[in-house]
Amino acid sequence: MWADLIKKAKEGGLDMIETYVFWNAHEPSRREYDFSDNLDFIRFLKTVQDEGLYAFLRIGPYICGEWNYGGLPVWLHNMPGIELRTANSVFMNEMQNFTTKIVDMVKNEKLFASQGGPIILAQIENEYGNIMTSYGDAGKAYIDWCANMAESFQIGVPWVMCQQSDAPQPMINTCNGFYCDSFTPNNPNSPKIWTENWTGWFKSWGDKDPHRTAEDVAFAVARFFQNGGTLQNYYMYHGGTNFGRTAGGPYITTSYDYDAPLDEYGNLNQPKWGHLKQLHAVLKSMEMTLTHGNVSTIDFNNSVSATIYATNESSSCFLGNANSSTDATINFQGNQYMVPAWSVTILPDCKNEGYNTAKVNTQTSVMVKTANIADKNDGATLSWSWRPEILKDTIFQRKRYVSAHQLIDQKAATNDTSDYLWYITSVDIKEDDPIWSHDMSLKVNGSGQIIHAYVNGKYTGSEWAKYGVSNSVFEQKVQLNPGRNQIALLSVTVGLANYGPMFDMIQTGIPGPVQLVVQKGDETIIKDLSSYKWTYKVGLNGLEDKFYDLDSLQVWKWQAQQFPINRNFTWYKATFKAPLGTDPIVLDLQGMGKGFAWVNGFNIGRYWPTYIADEDGCDVEVCDYRGSYDSSKCLTNCGQATQRWYHVPRSLIKDDENTLVLFEEFGGNPSLVNFQTITIGSVCGNAYESNNTLELSCNERPISSIKFASFGTPQGTCGSFQKGSCDSTKDALSILQNACVGKNTCTIEVSEETFGAVDCGGVPKRLAVEAVC
Ligand code: GAL
Repeated sequence: MWADLIKKAKEGGLDMIETYVFWNAHEPSRREYDFSDNLDFIRFLKTVQDEGLYAFLRIGPYICGEWNYGGLPVWLHNMPGIELRTANSVFMNEMQNFTTKIVDMVKNEKLFASQGGPIILAQIENEYGNIMTSYGDAGKAYIDWCANMAESFQIGVPWVMCQQSDAPQPMINTCNGFYCDSFTPNNPNSPKIWTENWTGWFKSWGDKDPHRTAEDVAFAVARFFQNGGTLQNYYMYHGGTNFGRTAGGPYITTSYDYDAPLDEYGNLNQPKWGHLKQLHAVLKSMEMTLTHGNVSTIDFNNSVSATIYATNESSSCFLGNANSSTDATINFQGNQYMVPAWSVTILPDCKNEGYNTAKVNTQTSVMVKTANIADKNDGATLSWSWRPEILKDTIFQRKRYVSAHQLIDQKAATNDTSDYLWYITSVDIKEDDPIWSHDMSLKVNGSGQIIHAYVNGKYTGSEWAKYGVSNSVFEQKVQLNPGRNQIALLSVTVGLANYGPMFDMIQTGIPGPVQLVVQKGDETIIKDLSSYKWTYKVGLNGLEDKFYDLDSLQVWKWQAQQFPINRNFTWYKATFKAPLGTDPIVLDLQGMGKGFAWVNGFNIGRYWPTYIADEDGCDVEVCDYRGSYDSSKCLTNCGQATQRWYHVPRSLIKDDENTLVLFEEFGGNPSLVNFQTITIGSVCGNAYESNNTLELSCNERPISSIKFASFGTPQGTCGSFQKGSCDSTKDALSILQNACVGKNTCTIEVSEETFGAVDCGGVPKRLAVEAVC
């Protein structure tokens, strides 16, 4: 998808692509590197270069990014004597080794701008300033070391440190956040750089869908440049998908859509993409004055200000209104301007309004999903075969596993090579033991990850938590036998922490204690099993035997007869035909519980459709862009599956037959599972008059009909437009029908010339259209 995404970014008016480098992906085992396929970051940079764009390489190698373990390899954690992200020679040696490798690879390909390549900036560490005090003096020593190391590479382009207010010179400290207009770098000679303008937000299991409006993102960008900003980068411009086990958190979803201008599937997220494209064009038209002009500001009070950038030849102006509810009418250089609340008006010539962040003239695209008609079963049902994950072998034949008289941190036991770790012990209980009772409970103190408990081979229950919860207690009544009893706990990580001071030390798995508990009268009797002999087994048999792998699919016996429903630890397999066309493909996993899905052997990520998003918090009908954005604003998807659809990149799909394998951990019903494609269903335009043209596009399909059109003061939003009190003399609907129906794209001039004269009593006139693709 790279080339297409980069093209769309360029078309959207971007000049530069910023990317992290993912240490844990590139060095999965110490000194074993992987730069193949989609880990080929050199190829990525060259694709950026081929498109004529600049690049910004954020090496980190700590990145955060809602990425597993913040991008650090977990094997680091298990090196003797290591402490991560501080002045520790073992860590610094590893970090230096990896960073040197990356820089050398880039240098060898001559990709730094100083060598004629596209990379104009590089980053070392990330947001260390936010957490540095927790590391004391060693933190400061570490950041100085990072700066010295970076400098020693002599890459010939500047290094930045994001959120490092004491960045050692010549490191440039930069800002991230929803707004960075009031940020100033610690060196007055440094350019004001915004490394991450959060275009939306990420999602965790149980969270609603976050949305940040196009108006607000544009407002933040325009204000940044009004206030002397030099470089602004969207985080994310395209967030995509956390395939495989790459999602961090714990509990970050597989989708990393982020409500970014290019959505998870690479489609234009309209109107955000287009509204920002127009902003970029206006800003670029002012490049000369912005980069060479003298700056002066007029304060109109009540958070309203004008900023003038003037050279001898020309000038450009910004009129900003940061008041969250009051529109402002101001007199500026002899003219009157109405600047809506929470908006910036840009006057490229200091006279005519070229852009206002609150006036969106770009179409809204409503995306729809359609069934995969290529499948012989009409895409509705797939034919499944299945096989069980056999747990008993693991639970009872544990001789060859490692053991310890303590509960081990999951990271230490697995090196994070799998989500799954078994903790198995046995306990002898006689009937004269004080704890003996038929009312005993098993109590397991977990670290917020999933626990499945088995007693004497019998499933007794599960426990899981949610994002941000790092301790959880599993407690269930258990029936033990007099004599020897087997207790097997399967701990399942849902990604490792990626942020915070010493996040790398956060316990995973079962920290304990693990106890048998009984209440006898006033007395609580506890038998603590934590220091019993525990044996450990990493992973599951089906994962080890690669049930998902195309080559091994033939080897294992799959049962074709009636597949079981709501059976935990079950593998399902089906074949499907490539969905027709070129639209992005999603896998609808409604009905399934939690697990992993593979398409043609590629792990498309963790799925968990039964994790329902919170019921509350979506009650705001129309999302108001005004006022500071935070991730609790403008939410949707309350009470629905946090994530029902899973992206299947077209590049995975073969022309003939394709294979889907699901590993179901909780129990689900695959009969509803199906493939769909995503396309534009309808488009809405809502454009203001004032030298504007409205473009409507159904992408590569024709517009089939116009559902609504009105020029004047139409009301409502896309999908529920209504005529207002003021409506044009000519019939807007037939004008739109003539201009658009049957065409893939049409352009309408939003003016009285097109729609006839109409007096709306000074209220700005708009054209609202809803077209069906
Ligand atoms: C930033 C961090 C990013 C990402 C973002 C939230 O602080 O640098 O990597 O985690 O927060 O999406």
